[in-house]
Amino acid sequence: MQKQTSLKDTLAVVTGGGSGIGAACSRELAQQGARVAVLDRNSESALKVAQEFGGLAFECDIADDEKMANVAQLIEAEMGPVSVLVNCAGIVQGRAGVYDMPMRKWDEIIRVDQRGTYVSCISFARAMLTRGHGSIVNIASVAGIRSMPLHAYAPAKAAVISMTETLAAEWGPSGIRVNAVSPGFTRTEGMVAAIEGGFMQASAMTSTAALQRLVEPAEIARAVIFLASSASSAITGINLPVDCGWLAGAGWSAYGGLPALRR
Ligand SMILES: NC(=O)c1ccc[n+]([C@@H]2O[C@H](COP(=O)([O-])OP(=O)(O)OC[C@H]3O[C@@H](n4cnc5c(N)ncnc54)[C@H](O)[C@@H]3O)[C@@H](O)[C@H]2O)c1
Repeated sequence: MQKQTSLKDTLAVVTGGGSGIGAACSRELAQQGARVAVLDRNSESALKVAQEFGGLAFECDIADDEKMANVAQLIEAEMGPVSVLVNCAGIVQGRAGVYDMPMRKWDEIIRVDQRGTYVSCISFARAMLTRGHGSIVNIASVAGIRSMPLHAYAPAKAAVISMTETLAAEWGPSGIRVNAVSPGFTRTEGMVAAIEGGFMQASAMTSTAALQRLVEPAEIARAVIFLASSASSAITGINLPVDCGWLAGAGWSAYGGLPALRR
């Protein structure tokens, strides 16, 4: 990918940067010349990713507002002003019937995926507001756009899309952009393990996607780079699906599915 120089030497923070989509975003930001702080509740995996490109790793729970405020201050003190925040940390939910999921589990998913994303935004935006610029990208999901049997995760991701709009309007006058990327089914380590363990079926996810395949983590990262950088300087408050056309193709199952390959 061509270097977008607006990210060169800027400081970017990636939550959930220790694995999957967050790790891919951390690597792509570093590739673009940004200095990257990798945040994760798993300090070992955060450190492993950060060491690949000479970044710094920080252990955190994104839903803990007091600790996140401290981590944000610490990063600004140790590394300098944060210009880009990418919120990837999240808990992915498996299918569960309404009465099969304990409320404790429901609370934890809402706490991390919804509250945590909000807490991270407000923790890092505080200093961005004093400087009058910054770009935040929240990782939502196609589950926040279309119904899925994920009774905590899907509403939490819909909330991420909504808070992206509300915060974009709140902070736009102060020079901060807030956008979301909604991945479709993505071939992360976790997804591969779910497929190999028989919890997810690859063909069920790909047969309704226009491009007939899973998304690669690096493809999410490239969309994040676009929204984080000045290449998208007039864009705020949007939700960009990166889903291999899953949203476009999902409704076709009622009509016998997508057409066969044509040559
Ligand atoms: N993989 C997919 O198909 C897919 C699809 C749509 C959306 N997403 C979203 O993308 C994001 C990344 O997902 P992934 O598939 O890469 O998952 P992942 O499990 O590989 O990565 C999530 C990371 O977040 C960290 N994390 C979890 N809770 C945390 C907390 N409270 N504080 C700090 N760090 C925490 C984990 O330790 C992990 O490193 C998530 O928000 C997920 O909902 C994933």
